[in-house]
Amino acid sequence: MQPLEVRVTDIRREAIDIRSYGLTPVDDHRIPAFDPGAHIKLHLPNGMARSYSLINPPENGDGYRIAVKRDAAGRGGSSYLHDHVKVGDIFKADTPANNFHLREEAEHSILVAGGIGITPIYAMAHRLTDLGRNWRLYYTARSLAHAALLESISTLPGKVQTFFPEDGTPALDLRAIFDNAPAGAHFYCCGPAGMLDHFIASATVSSDFVHIERFSGQTGTINDRGCRVKLARDGRTISVSPGQSILDALLDTGIKVEFSCREGLCGACETKVLKGIPDHRDFILDDEQRETNRVMMVCCSGATSDSLTLDL
Ligand code: FES
Repeated sequence: MQPLEVRVTDIRREAIDIRSYGLTPVDDHRIPAFDPGAHIKLHLPNGMARSYSLINPPENGDGYRIAVKRDAAGRGGSSYLHDHVKVGDIFKADTPANNFHLREEAEHSILVAGGIGITPIYAMAHRLTDLGRNWRLYYTARSLAHAALLESISTLPGKVQTFFPEDGTPALDLRAIFDNAPAGAHFYCCGPAGMLDHFIASATVSSDFVHIERFSGQTGTINDRGCRVKLARDGRTISVSPGQSILDALLDTGIKVEFSCREGLCGACETKVLKGIPDHRDFILDDEQRETNRVMMVCCSGATSDSLTLDL
């Protein structure tokens, strides 16, 4: 299908660094139908094309709504939307696509969201509510102030449990979520790459019941290359295998490192980098911190250099 031309109708602040954008077709036609979990690709005026989950109910045929986090580690689409797009701007959007389908027939659904990963989950919670299904949401973000759409989703009849490490709440325990879920439940997760890897590793049910959505641009593992990590104070050098987090390699070696969320959300595992280039995957560091490479979150970030020297 031909891309649609859409106009920005309104922009709302949803949380720290997160804004939502209302989009309607310029020709006043109804929008193509979509299901919860769907996303649209926007063709931005600066030449970038980026995909964003749709958060509005599918039955609202007048327009789309997306929520976008300014991602310091992203490839520029979110910064462009935050810094340059204003109400009235027009750009092209592909018709919605969906790789994150909701199993509407399931009696129980377990929804897990990390940070801006709440966006497709939010649409799913609305649909499940409309269908009268049982659902439970586990939602983690750096802090309450970073949690978009929480107020709205908390008014729905499903159970919502939040985890905000910066506010001192306990960290999300993904294994416990699987262990405590009702039989036959389907599990959905959207969030940072490290969280998705941990979610899959924690699953105690058939993969037919486990569904994830990766943000565009995310790679499949926390630390896909593997690397060597020299410990400047300890004196040892450890090997981190492909797919293993630096945090796990450190803990396996008996090195004491503070951690909490394991997902690049809380900052507890921040570690000084003395040499080497980290592959930052967290949701905490700003542009300058990523460029100077003086610190990294060892729970979720890897290395682009063959080795790193850490102040441990
Ligand atoms: S443990 Fe939370 S950012 Fe690493």
